[in-house]
Amino acid sequence: MPLPVQFRTGISHCSAISEQVPGVLFFKEGKLMDRNDEDLDCGWEIENPEHSIIFEKAKPLLKTRSNALHTRISYHFAITLLEKVGGDPKIVIPAILLHDIGWSIIPESQHAEAFGPYVKKPELQRLHETEGARMAGEILTDLEYSGHQIHEIEEIISGHDTRSDSLNSNDSIVKDADKLWRYSYEGFTTDYKRFEKTPRDCLIWLIESISKWFFTEVAKILAHKEVLQRKANYGIELD
Ligand SMILES: [Fe+2]
Ligand SMILES: [Fe+2]
Repeated sequence: MPLPVQFRTGISHCSAISEQVPGVLFFKEGKLMDRNDEDLDCGWEIENPEHSIIFEKAKPLLKTRSNALHTRISYHFAITLLEKVGGDPKIVIPAILLHDIGWSIIPESQHAEAFGPYVKKPELQRLHETEGARMAGEILTDLEYSGHQIHEIEEIISGHDTRSDSLNSNDSIVKDADKLWRYSYEGFTTDYKRFEKTPRDCLIWLIESISKWFFTEVAKILAHKEVLQRKANYGIELD
């Protein structure tokens, strides 16, 4: 029996109309497309020209770990959080678009040990932050950001995974948008496989993490909404 599908948060440009699980039909650039697990990297375009300039600089550095898709989805969550929470888009947007470019200097074969629920090599996780901050500084200097803005963005990137507290609302939005990716259809479908969890166990892990991970109340609400959608996508029933 087909399962009901509620697919998106409503902030994407893709909208689901199918009852296939997990593959769905969606609209992209006005055309109806078929989508399946092998074709997760669609939609979530960055249309704002100023933001797109930054993303184009980041894109060559986001070729591993589904990082380009992760960045685009986190960017859209950041836009929603900026609208609802407040914050400085001149800081939040470059920070979210560039936050994971540091992975590009770490051999892909070592990535699996440096992120996710079981980090075996914390020094590599740290390195992607510090190198990412340095590289972001170079990109933003080329784009003529001010020294003050670059400093704040570097600070946010430098602690986006390992710093457990938040520096300010800009930092909170970046941290929350980064984590919200895990709750999206694409992030969830990517993560339960690469973390070798069942969809059910992955969802339980995400639900239990909401109170630990998120700084803003809006992000918690968004995460709960996504959880309902993933339950529907995968037919998961929890007590
Ligand atoms: Fe990261
Ligand atoms: Fe990230």
